Amino acid sequence: MTTTARPLIHPLIVRLTHWINAFAILMMVTSGWRIYNASPLFGFRFPAGITLGGWLGGALNWHFAAMWLFAGNLLIYLAYGVLSGRFRTRFWGLTPRAVWTDTASFVRGRLSHTDLSVYNAVQKLCYVGVIAAMLLLILSGLAVWKSVQLQELAALMGGYEGARIVHFCAMAAVVAFTVLHVAMAFAVPRSLLSIVRGR
Ligand code: HEM
Repeated sequence: MTTTARPLIHPLIVRLTHWINAFAILMMVTSGWRIYNASPLFGFRFPAGITLGGWLGGALNWHFAAMWLFAGNLLIYLAYGVLSGRFRTRFWGLTPRAVWTDTASFVRGRLSHTDLSVYNAVQKLCYVGVIAAMLLLILSGLAVWKSVQLQELAALMGGYEGARIVHFCAMAAVVAFTVLHVAMAFAVPRSLLSIVRGR
């Protein structure tokens, strides 16, 4: 008997953790902007209309609530990726040469997206990079939150103020990735279907 079912590109656990992550990131970033506004590191504040929490106390409540969802969900995604071998098959082969070749093809508009089950080197670099940025967000967030108990961790980032700067930069990297990533997803609508339906 022949089957017309298309191969599964993103298993259910990857789709679920992906969308929970997108939701948690939205909560974390917008409440984080409100917290930042109470004591800006740089010479600007985020417009109040795009922040979450209403005031510093409210924003902290949102940030700490979403933090557990974000960290727990990321842990599940990472454990699945390592234990199932998905990270090996999906992200292996990330060499500077492959990134250079695929970036050159992208610039010339010749980067193929025919096989969605294989990531090109630019995608691999972006996905591995954003996973690293999210881990750095958690580590620097812990260093800021528990700066006395985790002072060795904070010291690695230059102390409390250094950890705040690292936390801000990791947030900026995640936001920059998300903007580019969403634009690319809408440019290739088939990929959008695959992260919703799996195929
Ligand atoms: C509305 C927001 C988002 C949309 C529309 C979206 C869309 C997508 C799509 C279409 C894919 C599959 C790409 C492919 O198969 O070629 C994907 C995968 C992925 N996305 Fe998103 N995404 C969003 C938010 C995010 C956020 C906020 C992050 C992280 C900060 C993220 C991280 C990832 C990662 C790491 C993968 C690869 C998953 C894997 O294969 O293990 N996404 N996303």
